Amino acid sequence: MQITFNKLCMLATAFLFLSGSVLAAMPSQPVNAPEPAKNLDTTTGFMQEITEDRPHTGPTRSGLEVYEYRCKGCHGRNTQGAPMPDDKYEWGLRMNKGFTLLMDHALNGYKDFLMPPKGGCRNCNEEEVKNAVIYMIESSGNQVSLKDKKFKPVNKDSQKTK
Ligand code: HEC
Repeated sequence: MQITFNKLCMLATAFLFLSGSVLAAMPSQPVNAPEPAKNLDTTTGFMQEITEDRPHTGPTRSGLEVYEYRCKGCHGRNTQGAPMPDDKYEWGLRMNKGFTLLMDHALNGYKDFLMPPKGGCRNCNEEEVKNAVIYMIESSGNQVSLKDKKFKPVNKDSQKTK
């Protein structure tokens, strides 16, 4: 009885192992499957950015320029709750977290990347992202202190522009 059971176990293991390798060897997509869509239409501009390979050259962009270039896609229409630049109440609440934390969220992403790292502006440097954050806060009627304006992020990696 014991031997038969052991044999059964071995057979079952062998079967699982073999069927696993057969599945792994199969192509993951049927040959005639349609090509996956390359450029999805989104409201954000973020999808364009991640397929773009266009490093920014030239002087550091102002907050308004960066806002128009990337942030507006979401922040200009409250996408997924992105605070609008004229929303004094909402930006006031966010300022209560402290500028350092806001910048951390702007640079590294926030809320499962609903707010993407650098707002999707991959060719922005940190100064430019900071300018855009300050632009939105100030347009909302909130104040950014001089100390916050001089803020320098710690993570040197994201200093790279690409
Ligand atoms: C793909 C959409 C999208 C884009 C593009 C985007 N944001 Fe956001 N952002 C969001 C969303 C959504 C939130 C709010 C998340 C929440 O609080 O639930 C947010 C929140 C923020 C916050 C507040 C974070 C906090 O801790 O409260 C800052 C600062 C910010 N964004 C800066 C930027 C800047 C600067 C840009 C452009 C460089 C940008 N965002 C572009 C979606 C976006």
